[in-house]
Amino acid sequence: MAECILEQLKSQPTWLLLLLSLGLFSLLKLSLSILKWVYVNFLRPGKNLKKYGSWALITGPTDGIGKAFAFQLAKKGLNLVLVGRNPDKLKEVSESIKSKSGSTQIKTVVVDFSGDLDDGVSRIKDAIEGLDVGLLINNVGVSYPYARFFHEVDDKLLSDLIKVNVEGTTKVTRAVLPGMVKRKKGAIVNIGSGAAIVIPSDPLYSVYAATKAYIDQFSRCLYVEYKKSGIDVQCQVPLYVATKMASIKRSSFFVPSTDGYARAALRWIGYEPRCTPYWPHTLLWALANSLPESVVDAWRLKFCLGIRKRGQLKDSRKKE
Ligand SMILES: NC(=O)c1ccc[n+]([C@@H]2O[C@H](COP(=O)([O-])OP(=O)(O)OC[C@H]3O[C@@H](n4cnc5c(N)ncnc54)[C@H](OP(=O)(O)O)[C@@H]3O)[C@@H](O)[C@H]2O)c1
Repeated sequence: MAECILEQLKSQPTWLLLLLSLGLFSLLKLSLSILKWVYVNFLRPGKNLKKYGSWALITGPTDGIGKAFAFQLAKKGLNLVLVGRNPDKLKEVSESIKSKSGSTQIKTVVVDFSGDLDDGVSRIKDAIEGLDVGLLINNVGVSYPYARFFHEVDDKLLSDLIKVNVEGTTKVTRAVLPGMVKRKKGAIVNIGSGAAIVIPSDPLYSVYAATKAYIDQFSRCLYVEYKKSGIDVQCQVPLYVATKMASIKRSSFFVPSTDGYARAALRWIGYEPRCTPYWPHTLLWALANSLPESVVDAWRLKFCLGIRKRGQLKDSRKKE
């Protein structure tokens, strides 16, 4: 049988054999990618996060994804430093975590990332003095209230986007990293966005997407810089998650709840420098990659123009 196939192949023209080899090679590559995808998404065990240190610092833990991270990390036995702008919400989250995971130690630091950031960061430094903060979740972030053209972005929104998303993440990292370098261990998770990485453009959210592109490149460079120092830096790239920022109340197959996202997210910490932890998001990512960029651009523009129209309508109703 094998000899027969070999004879058949020998009688084929070279160009056909070349084409066949290329086809087989592509098939092998695809099979390996699928096997890897199944392994990393469903079989690979998460790392023992306590090995990085006994404390985790989370920014923006009073709502959405950050809040879910706080609950999940407490469940894993980590003590928490929660950095948020609203003292009442920080107290409420801390008490709620303690009622579920009684042994968790929690410190809170009130910082408005759109306010006096240097003062806030110096208070973070004071709060973590002497603590082995092994895990940093740079989650805090703001977006537009709704889609708009760049010339419609006012000064306050522009400043908040850059201060909270870019400066906040950068300065908190600089405050926490030296301790990790000293202890030769740590993990940093920076929350990026599909807006900057999965789709080729995010029209009508240009500044938000650009701040997240900064987060992606910042993370990748730190990953390479600190890998040999025992510090794992990662940019997580969520697509839509049901939060107030996304204006999505109910979760669905492609839009996880914050708990669903955070549970998946913890399993990825310490591995690839860039990932999208919730597996249905990887399907959307693959779909976006397989389409011509101009098609995705046009679809996204239409989608965001719809958001802008609805937002403007809501605004005008409020004024009436
Ligand atoms: N949700 C999505 O679909 C999605 C997709 C991709 C990426 N992301 C990213 O995921 C991260 C979390 O987003 P989310 O959807 O969970 O947002 P969210 O529900 O709006 O929560 C944001 C958190 O950040 C805090 N925060 C906002 N502005 C702040 C400021 N000036 N100072 C201090 N804290 C501030 C909020 O505090 P308060 O509780 O006081 O409001 C809240 O705790 C962001 O970096 C976002 O860009 C989200």
